[in-house]
Amino acid sequence: MTALPILHGEKGEGKGTLPSTERTSSLSPLPGVAIRGAMLADVPSLEALMAPYVATGDLLPRSNYDLCRHIKEYVVAEAGVDLVGCGSLKIYSRDLAEVAGVAVRGDWQGSGIGRALLETLIADARGFGLAEVLALTRKPAFFLKLGFGPAEREHFPLKVWADCARCPRQSCCDEVAVVLRL
Ligand SMILES: CC(C)(COP(=O)(O)OP(=O)(O)OC[C@H]1O[C@@H](n2cnc3c(N)ncnc32)[C@H](O)[C@@H]1OP(=O)(O)O)[C@@H](O)C(=O)NCCC(=O)NCCS
Repeated sequence: MTALPILHGEKGEGKGTLPSTERTSSLSPLPGVAIRGAMLADVPSLEALMAPYVATGDLLPRSNYDLCRHIKEYVVAEAGVDLVGCGSLKIYSRDLAEVAGVAVRGDWQGSGIGRALLETLIADARGFGLAEVLALTRKPAFFLKLGFGPAEREHFPLKVWADCARCPRQSCCDEVAVVLRL
């Protein structure tokens, strides 16, 4: 997969306008940072990137097997040789996908990488012809900034709730559901 520079440009528009395999670049003023589809070689870096946020409960734990199995769902932000951000798009049905595992390395936060990752995943979702993208998050304000609105938890299919079985906070969940209609 080829690294794509983060470029100024138009957001993806319309449904189903991109080939389903195409990964899109995003809006960000950051020079030297590329957003690209993840590769299996990224798995150790993905684990290291997510570990602190798994520890705080901001991200669900993901096994090495799970990351390898679903690597095609992930995009990463790369600065030089460093993997500094990631996110994934989990498709549940013809209409619905979930944005999950969005994380930016602490020393890179606040510089637009989270936005670039989320916009890339949203553009991918539009390219697939999805109708809406959901997220379950402890950082709803980040998603609301990028156009998501509050959602009812019941909106999520059972498949999403199956993830809760792996979550250490399952009995005291403080995640908020947000949705973006595409
Ligand atoms: C949430 C996270 C991904 C944001 O990444 P980031 O690179 O720092 O975000 P950006 O710099 O792209 O910010 C984009 C916009 O969102 C806002 N924003 C970012 N994090 C925010 C937060 N926690 N609360 C409110 N707004 C937030 C920024 O102010 C910015 O707004 P602006 O464009 O008006 O200035 C990052 O803080 C992170 O990795 N957190 C730990 C993991 C996590 O909680 N992930 C989300 C769960 S799915």
